[in-house]
Amino acid sequence: MTNNPLHAAYFADHAVAEAVEIIENVPIAKDTFRLRFCQPELAVKITPGQFLMLRLADCSDPLIGRPLALYDTHDDPRGRPAEVEVVYLVHGKLTSRLAQCRPGRKLEVWGPLGNGFSGGSSGVSAPHLVMAAGGIGQTPFLSLAKQTLGLRHYGSGRPLAEAPKVRVTFCYGAKSAAYLAGVDDFKHAGVEVCISTDDGSQGRHGFVTELLEDVLEESADACEVVCCGPEPMMKAVAEVAARRQTPCRVSLETPMACGIGVCFSCVAKVRDAAGGWDYKRTCVEGPVFDAADIVW
Ligand SMILES: Cc1cc2nc3c(=O)[nH]c(=O)nc-3n(C[C@H](O)[C@H](O)[C@H](O)COP(=O)(O)OP(=O)(O)OC[C@H]3O[C@@H](n4cnc5c(N)ncnc54)[C@H](O)[C@@H]3O)c2cc1C
Ligand code: FES
Repeated sequence: MTNNPLHAAYFADHAVAEAVEIIENVPIAKDTFRLRFCQPELAVKITPGQFLMLRLADCSDPLIGRPLALYDTHDDPRGRPAEVEVVYLVHGKLTSRLAQCRPGRKLEVWGPLGNGFSGGSSGVSAPHLVMAAGGIGQTPFLSLAKQTLGLRHYGSGRPLAEAPKVRVTFCYGAKSAAYLAGVDDFKHAGVEVCISTDDGSQGRHGFVTELLEDVLEESADACEVVCCGPEPMMKAVAEVAARRQTPCRVSLETPMACGIGVCFSCVAKVRDAAGGWDYKRTCVEGPVFDAADIVW
């Protein structure tokens, strides 16, 4: 068993792969569902920004799993993480079929995969964490917010002795009000939520980058930006952060086939120390990258 995450065998050796039963699969916004299953080994290990691969068991179409980010974990009655929650947008083949699945239907899952937002106790280095999400790109951020605010710990992280003095703001852009998913989850966690919609049906009429500019402008504290969403949106967020010399990390959503570093279907162009760039596999070297390193 290798302990080098860049070795092709690392994630295959360390991931949990199992058939699980759906406990809950409920709509939470237009074309958007929250799905929960029980897999204690995965629930104990997975951290914010990591993902799992998921496919329908006993069904070869689609054959290849799809990546879904951790939304949250839930404890068993003894207080140990046991259940894993993901949130998905009905998009193509798998997610359309998933939306029809009832509790008891079997899925195959493998994970945890990818680097996540780890590093330091909460993975966040500034007193004001600003999360910018476009559409279903909000999914990696609930657990990150809870971890940053000291409300929940994930993986081998330890509960914090006292609540950290950190502020978390969530800039959330969606097509329309109907697509806003999980906003109350963020509010209950104590996150300041700012909303923009493309059609003006809720929050600010416009792009999430405009919200972000305002939040960064008004913050009295040093900020760190994390971002996930469609590529043009992440590029725009990266440019806003760069202009303000604010550190920014992006969680890329490149299409994936294996999820464990073998097929190279998920590569992104990432700058290297020599001033050039190289292809990096989003599934093992990401999905979280420093935004300044991405060649958009
Ligand atoms: C690390 C990671 C985490 C993710 N987390 C979530 C999540 O939490 N919730 C969620 O809803 N989605 C998430 N996604 C995106 C999701 O995995 C894809 O949208 C997936 O393809 C959906 O499967 P499908 O079978 O329904 O659609 P498919 O049939 O696979 O795709 C339909 C169309 O979309 C294209 N496509 C496939 N994947 C992508 C992609 N990633 N970006 C752009 N176009 C694509 C295909 O080429 C095809 O044209 C994540 C992706 C990554 C890489
Ligand atoms: S999905 Fe196969 S190498 Fe990343």
